[in-house]
Amino acid sequence: MNSSSDFSDPALPPLDPLSLRLAAANALIRRRRTIKPHDMDERPVATQHLAAILENANWAPSHGMTEPWRFFVFTEDGRQRLADFCQHLYRQITPEHEFKSSKYEKLPSQMLKAPVVIAVAMKRQASEKIAEIEEIEAVACAIQNMYLTASALGMAAFWSTPPLIYRDEMRQWLGLSDARDKCLGLFYLGWPASEEWPQGKRDDVTAKVVHIMK
Ligand SMILES: Cc1cc2nc3c(=O)[nH]c(=O)nc-3n(C[C@H](O)[C@H](O)[C@H](O)COP(=O)(O)O)c2cc1C
Repeated sequence: MNSSSDFSDPALPPLDPLSLRLAAANALIRRRRTIKPHDMDERPVATQHLAAILENANWAPSHGMTEPWRFFVFTEDGRQRLADFCQHLYRQITPEHEFKSSKYEKLPSQMLKAPVVIAVAMKRQASEKIAEIEEIEAVACAIQNMYLTASALGMAAFWSTPPLIYRDEMRQWLGLSDARDKCLGLFYLGWPASEEWPQGKRDDVTAKVVHIMK
């Protein structure tokens, strides 16, 4: 089959169903982009779009079916509460010589620009039968599902990981009761202001692959 990402050449024979499915997967995976709050416009996120994104997050794989992902969805005035807390925490934990007022100011403006901010967390399994890294990996899969669904809908999404999210204060503020639980990111969601979808770029995969055949 045609290995390029252009499947629209009329000179090519029609694609069989399997190739069509692969073409759809290629397009979704490769067109997924990070679009940050300052490149979002004012349009709100409809309930059904948010629900579709959370539903697909829930279909991520997890070892032992622990489903460790948890979502705290901040909208409307909830974003201001999140912004106030993050600003307060940033000031509290940052040594004076490292404190950047630009960063301090950017926290709330970023959170208020996106119509939805989702704090994504990992709920640690009580028995610890599954290794922590695998629970974190499962949550990362859930976030990728969110990213892919947002991109499929033409929405802007951004996984942000400022160091303060990993703090115990953040976990407690979110109401995660177990000290082993962890916030793993803030997922910003909205609509892109530009009609031009950003281009992605990756280094060649061949340099990252080792084939062992005997
Ligand atoms: C675990 C993880 C954490 C990330 N944290 C940040 C972040 O804190 N700030 C940021 O600007 N981008 C962050 N990103 C987004 C990357 O910058 C982005 O994925 C990368 O530039 C590639 O762009 P793309 O998503 O459009 O392909 C993060 C991505 C991942 C996977």
